[in-house]
Amino acid sequence: MKIGYVQYDPIFGAIDRNIEKVIALMEPLEADLLVLPELCMTGYLITSREEALALAEEVPGGKTTNALCRAARDKDCFIVAGLAERDGENIYNSAVLVGPEGFIACYRKIHLFFEEKLWFTPGDGGFQVHDLPIGKIGIMICFDWFFPESMRALALKGAQVVCHPANLVLPFCQDAMKTRCLENRVFAVTANRTGCEERGGKLLSYTGLSQITGPGGDIVHRCGGAEEIAVAADVDVERALIKSINEYNDLFSDRRTEFYSGLFKE
Ligand code: ACM
Repeated sequence: MKIGYVQYDPIFGAIDRNIEKVIALMEPLEADLLVLPELCMTGYLITSREEALALAEEVPGGKTTNALCRAARDKDCFIVAGLAERDGENIYNSAVLVGPEGFIACYRKIHLFFEEKLWFTPGDGGFQVHDLPIGKIGIMICFDWFFPESMRALALKGAQVVCHPANLVLPFCQDAMKTRCLENRVFAVTANRTGCEERGGKLLSYTGLSQITGPGGDIVHRCGGAEEIAVAADVDVERALIKSINEYNDLFSDRRTEFYSGLFKE
């Protein structure tokens, strides 16, 4: 199966232009599953709740989800992409999963980062795994990686590939994903954005270096920090079903949950 990502530099608020750009980058690429960055059509550096409300779209039915559904149908592939979702008065930092037959699911980011807490409502839907013809797919968004429970929850639910739309501004994630994938024996596709945003007296630089990570902690593919690129690599997703690490140890059945209760205290 071919899994991949698009890394690019969206222009803040230019949703139509950004959709066009992403579609053009994906167009020549053959893939079964593609991951796009967090908030990939709006840009990230929101400066007010009003701005966030104006940029957010209904899911499904909004223009970003509709464009992604058309692309997934035309390319006969599955796509996971970050977007700002509006549901009544709530705005979520979400990611949609769409496929050749249309909209499938929406994940709402659970661990909000920094000023995201001012505009977005924390996700309420938990970590879900989707049983697709290409394999079992889970979704988490950017800062969720900082909480090992996110990927663990997805892996315990059977995820073989964790789709990870991101707008990373800290330098730790790409290397940390080697451990996240190794300790859960899953693939991950971290689709980061690149470029800078300067708005409202603030400046953010995004780290690029989007990455496909394998269940052995291996980097299947990592691109540069600044390039705009769509990439896919052939992987054997069956590798993610093997949780045993030697004849005595199995990453899941060796867990001693009776000693982990402190993890779940307030
Ligand atoms: C982040 O969660 N966008 C850092």
